[in-house]
Amino acid sequence: MNELDALVDSARQGFEQAATPADLENAKAVFLGKSGRITELMKGLASLSIDEKKARGAVINQAKQAIEAALNARRQALADAELDAQLKAEALDVTLAGRQAGQGGLHPVSLTLERIEGIFGSMGFDVAQGPEIESDWFNFTALNTPEDHPARSMHDTFYVEGGTATAPNLLRTHTSPMQIRHAVQHVNAHRALLDAGETMPEIRVIAPGRTYRVDSDATHSPMFHQCEGLWIGANVSFKDLKVVFTDFCRTFFESDDLVLRFRPSFFPFTEPSAEIDIQFQSGPLAGRWLEVAGSGQVHPNVVRNMGLDPEKYIGFAFGMGPDRLTMLRYGVNDLRLFFDGDIRFLSQFQ
Ligand code: PHE
Repeated sequence: MNELDALVDSARQGFEQAATPADLENAKAVFLGKSGRITELMKGLASLSIDEKKARGAVINQAKQAIEAALNARRQALADAELDAQLKAEALDVTLAGRQAGQGGLHPVSLTLERIEGIFGSMGFDVAQGPEIESDWFNFTALNTPEDHPARSMHDTFYVEGGTATAPNLLRTHTSPMQIRHAVQHVNAHRALLDAGETMPEIRVIAPGRTYRVDSDATHSPMFHQCEGLWIGANVSFKDLKVVFTDFCRTFFESDDLVLRFRPSFFPFTEPSAEIDIQFQSGPLAGRWLEVAGSGQVHPNVVRNMGLDPEKYIGFAFGMGPDRLTMLRYGVNDLRLFFDGDIRFLSQFQ
C-alpha cells in the first residue's frame, strides 16, 4: 500500500472513531486542516518539476477527495444516528389505541337513593339532609330513647371524642334524628301560624343518608344507608302509612305483584310500631318475607320534642335501608360489595 492510500485509510479510521460531530471536526483538522497532512503534502510540491508536480498533485488531490468523501459520509452517519436517537426518545406511537376518559356513573346505592327521592317526591315529600356526627339529644333523647337503652352502648354506637350530650358526640345510628331536626325547623318556620292557633302545613319529608353502627358481616356494614320518612299533620293515620309505603314499594320494584306485611314491633319513638316486610309473588325471591323498613305512629313524646302538641298533631315515621333495597332489586347477596370500590362490580350498574 502506498503512502497516500495509507493516509486515506488512517483518515477513514480516525473519522470512524469520532463518536460526536465535535470529535469528527478534530479528526478532520488532522488531515484537511491548515497544518493537516494533506496541506503538508501540497506544500511539498513546490520543490518538484512541472511534470512531477502535475503527476504528484493529481494523486494528492485524489487522496484529498477520498478523505473528504469519508468525512462527509461520517458526518451524515452521525447526523442520522442523532436523529434516530431523538426519534426514539420522543417516540409517539400513533398506531396505539387512545387512552379513553372512563365513562363515570352513579353508585348502585346512589341510583336507589335517586329512585327513592323521585318516588316520594312525586307523592309530595321534601328531601332533607342532616349531619352524620350527631348529638346524643337528636339521636336518642329527643327520640324517647331511655338512658339505659342498649342501642346507646359502646357496642352499638361509635362515639367521637370531645362531644357532650348536646354537642355532636356520636356517629348517627339511624336517620331518625332528622325527624326532630326537620320538624323543629318546619315548626319554627310556621311559628306565627301556630301562635295564632291556626293549623300549620303538613310535614312531609324524607331524609336519606349515611348511618353508622358497630356491626360488620355479609349483611351489615359499619357504614350503611338509611332513608327516613316523616309525615305529620292534624289528621294523618296508620292507614296513610300503609298506602304510601305500599305505593312506594310497588313503584320501586316495578311490580304490582308484591304484598306488604306490617309486623308488630317496638321502637321507643313510635307507638304502635311495625316492621314492614314485603313478599314478591313471582321471580327469584318469590314467597319469602323480606324486611325492608321499621315504622310506626310517632310517639307523643317525640311530637312534643318537635315543638308540637300531640293532641293536635299526629303522624307516622318510617326508616328503610336503601342498601337492602338495592340488594333486592339487583339480586346482590353480599352488602360489602357495595363498599369495596371494585370497578368491575360497580360498572355493571351503568
Ligand atoms: N330508626 C329505626 C332503625 O334504625 C327505624 C325506624 C324509623 C323505625 C322510623 C320507626 C320509625 O331501626
